[in-house]
Amino acid sequence: MLAALGSAIGLGNVWRFAYVVGENGGGAFILAYLVCVVLLGLPLMIGELAAGRAAGPDPIGTFRRIAPAAPWRWAGIPGVAAAVVILAYYPVVAGWVGTYLARYALDGTALPAGADPAAAFGAMIADPVQALAATAAVLAVSAAVVAAGVQRGIETASRILMPLLLVLLLGLAAHALTLPGAGRALDFLFRPDWAALARPATWLAAAGQAFFSLGLAMGILVAYGGYLGPARGIPSKAAMIAAGDTGVALTAGLVIFPAVFSFGFDPAQGATLVFVVLPEVFAALPGGRLIATVFFLLLLIAAITSVISMIEVPVAASGARPGRARAAVALAVAVLACLAAVPAALGFGRLAGLRPAGMAVLDSLDLMASNLLLPLSGIALALCLGWRWRRAEAAESSGLAGPIGLAWLWSLRLVVPLALAVLLVAGFRHG
Ligand code: PHE
Repeated sequence: MLAALGSAIGLGNVWRFAYVVGENGGGAFILAYLVCVVLLGLPLMIGELAAGRAAGPDPIGTFRRIAPAAPWRWAGIPGVAAAVVILAYYPVVAGWVGTYLARYALDGTALPAGADPAAAFGAMIADPVQALAATAAVLAVSAAVVAAGVQRGIETASRILMPLLLVLLLGLAAHALTLPGAGRALDFLFRPDWAALARPATWLAAAGQAFFSLGLAMGILVAYGGYLGPARGIPSKAAMIAAGDTGVALTAGLVIFPAVFSFGFDPAQGATLVFVVLPEVFAALPGGRLIATVFFLLLLIAAITSVISMIEVPVAASGARPGRARAAVALAVAVLACLAAVPAALGFGRLAGLRPAGMAVLDSLDLMASNLLLPLSGIALALCLGWRWRRAEAAESSGLAGPIGLAWLWSLRLVVPLALAVLLVAGFRHG
């Protein structure tokens, strides 16, 4: 449970949530997001946890065991692919967080005073040595944790640190709501623009963000389900993970958007949003340096617990036994991830000319993982679990019987795959 929360809460709740909300019209997106969490995320989350508990933590082998015939036996593969793609850029963003942390701790400020924040941040992430070193450091720490087998310790620490992150965010939100742009921010966040709600792309982005943030459809929850004991209520755990994750994201939105409007930033600027906006928030705050240092430390820990769970997916899929073999695989995955992250890390400097689909490498990988691979994986998992899994075993493992069990079953069979398929097709067709 703790591990799942640690995996779920990460940069997705602060960095990604804010920038995707900003790009997709605010309130309309948030409404779509909440609908996606409840109608698509929860059934799938329960399914993954239950599948892992019944058939073991291997995110690919589990589905082979549940549905031995082709093509169902491959249902776990798109999710692992998504985890691998995310591993090729997420540590880069975590590296930016680490750099901010170091700068607040050592220099007292992340971006030079008086400089244009967007330009200063752009210069920071364009520096190749800095970007690569920070990415490598994040991966090294994460792999060391996995190799040393101290996840438990980290997760126990997270039990204190993640609520602390939430408390800090709540405090910052209370402050942000006193800023002059707070009214406009609340309008932006909670008054849906109905035209945006009619756009399939808004919904596709919402589903992608819901899966990304919940850590769904990537085999992670299968792995954690496999480590769950027999007598635990999976549905209530899933609901708590979803509620906690969503609560952190919404609170982060309440910190960031008042500042966006107060300081005159463009909410739709993309992946740089929080890194440009937050320094302004902290600069205007008494004790801002200390608060910023603590904030970025907590965010870095949240990011590292997420990277740990991403490394866990290929390690679990490799079937390596605990001990030396696991440590070796974890190390190998981290080294490969570091190499794979080079294009994303250099994509704002040396490789800035490389613009797949008209955007920076990092943004294109992010979009490919969330808006393409995760929905595809969600369709595969839902169909496989809904149609191929022995119903008695599914009911027994999930603990869902009667009418609720039936609703769950048909969500997996129809609602989730159909909704995701429609969103994929329409979202891409209409942009
Ligand atoms: N859910 C994590 C977040 O919100 C990201 C993550 C993605 C974690 C993939 C694990 C696997 O930041």
